[in-house]
Amino acid sequence: MGTYVITGGASGIGLAIAEQLRSEGNRCLSLDIQEADIVADLSTAEGRTDAIGAIEAATGGELAGLVTSAGLGSHVPNKSLITSVNYYGTVELIAGLRPMLARNKAAVLLVSSNSAPMPTNPDFISALLEGNEQQAFALAEEMEGQPVYSGTKQAVTRWMRQNTQAYAAEGIRMNAIGPGYTRTPLSMAVEDDPTYSEAIKQFIASIPVGRPGVPQDMADAASFLLSDRAGFICGAMLYIDGGHDAMMRPESL
Ligand code: NAI
Repeated sequence: MGTYVITGGASGIGLAIAEQLRSEGNRCLSLDIQEADIVADLSTAEGRTDAIGAIEAATGGELAGLVTSAGLGSHVPNKSLITSVNYYGTVELIAGLRPMLARNKAAVLLVSSNSAPMPTNPDFISALLEGNEQQAFALAEEMEGQPVYSGTKQAVTRWMRQNTQAYAAEGIRMNAIGPGYTRTPLSMAVEDDPTYSEAIKQFIASIPVGRPGVPQDMADAASFLLSDRAGFICGAMLYIDGGHDAMMRPESL
């Protein structure tokens, strides 16, 4: 039993993870731009600093785990905003909470995506991982929504793996999940967008297990990965996508 903070906890996957952890007797604080225990805007440096202070105050310094589910989809026209929320809203929040996570020997679960390995602009990934924020925003604005989205997800996952050893040395166990197509307000917004809707229908029909994901699929895995039963799982990216990644990249691990 412990206290968990779930970014994006007001909706979709984050909400399902919060409800699952609560049902197991934990205290869960949602952090979101709206309708949350902690209201904060993760798209700005100031908002992230406020979020870190608010988490410290609301938890009293006790934090068993952090889940970073706040994110924007590829349909959002402002590419810099997708970049800010999906990448900086994840890695800068984790980095800012690092001392608190270390004191508590906490677990961190990043909500990435099974689109993380998809083709994108390698310069965009480099700019993100090297902390060159202005270049990352400039490149994002020249790109289509999908490679910006998948690029942010590839970058958060690589950031997690690059930092796994150093964080583990402080007792922080980080893992990521890569949801496949999951019916939530975010995916429905893309599905309802006429630019994407026909392609999305075909995409859903091609999922090997024969159905789209539901938020509870992610919540069940999150519950396990955050628990002590997963104590030897560290730095892993778990695809939860009905077999889609294996179908699309059969020769890759
Ligand atoms: P959702 O739209 O239901 O939830 C996302 C949450 O993030 C919302 O509550 C929203 O208010 C919050 N958020 C957005 N901007 C924010 C900001 N600036 N500050 C604080 N909170 C902010 O979406 P869903 O589908 O639950 O997505 C959750 C995560 O799962 C996202 O990171 C998404 O990229 C990822 N994902 C979703 C998939 C899907 O098919 N639904 C597939 C793969 C990954």
